[in-house]
Amino acid sequence: MPARIAHLSDIHFGAHDPAVVAGTEAWLAEQQPDLVIISGDFTQRARIEQFREARAYLERLRAAGFRLLVVPGNHDVPLYDVARRFAAPLRRYKHYISHELCPWFEDDHVAVLGINTARSLTIKSGRLNRDQMALIEEKFAQVPAEKTRILVTHHPLYAMPIGEGTELTEAVGRHDDAVKAVCRAGVHVALAGHYHRTYAAAARKMVEQAGGALVVQAGTATSVRLRNNELQSFNWIHAHRNNDIELQVIAWDGAAFHRGSHVRFTYDGDTWQSATVIDA
Ligand SMILES: [Fe+2]
Ligand SMILES: [Fe+2]
Repeated sequence: MPARIAHLSDIHFGAHDPAVVAGTEAWLAEQQPDLVIISGDFTQRARIEQFREARAYLERLRAAGFRLLVVPGNHDVPLYDVARRFAAPLRRYKHYISHELCPWFEDDHVAVLGINTARSLTIKSGRLNRDQMALIEEKFAQVPAEKTRILVTHHPLYAMPIGEGTELTEAVGRHDDAVKAVCRAGVHVALAGHYHRTYAAAARKMVEQAGGALVVQAGTATSVRLRNNELQSFNWIHAHRNNDIELQVIAWDGAAFHRGSHVRFTYDGDTWQSATVIDA
């Protein structure tokens, strides 16, 4: 059996659609993933009431028996409350969501590390510091080669194309160093959110010297703030042994979540190759 991972992001309580929130819970209850990842932006404005709602959601998922791995997003740092933003940017996140800022999960197929990229000084683009880069290398160095090494951040580590044009999204701060560290750590899959857009491609196609990572972006799972008219969605990942993964985008259709595109990616030791899976 592969590791079955649901990757949700940008759930944004305070700007959420309750029907879609319920839809995620119904889908997860039916599929019973081994791990639920939520890659940040739990709230819309880091308000206490919004954190309470996000916490209640996480408590319902835990009560349903799911293992969770979560990292904060830029919306989880108070924006307008300047004193709070600089003195204790992640205090509410730690109190309501999780104390653990470098969460780790490992089973027979995968090793997953979450890293916090949300900072008080950079509102949007996020940042990785030297200690975090060292931690990424240190943690993954102990993982056997046949396991898929997955890194989770809120902000994407790589600049991605926007739509069909040549414009690129902004990548995480200290971008070049971060990409090198991720490459040295042998990260196979980089999961992130923030842009409310689904996207999957080999990092090498986006950035030179990017190493062998596969970049997988999640849309917003439950927010009403949609980009490019892309409806709410999340990623459903099956990680088989030896770096062979299936990625399905699970999209909201106005009434329920359904399986959308289904792509199989295999890693040949150097780069990821994709082939669309035809079954539905
Ligand atoms: Fe977001
Ligand atoms: Fe964000």
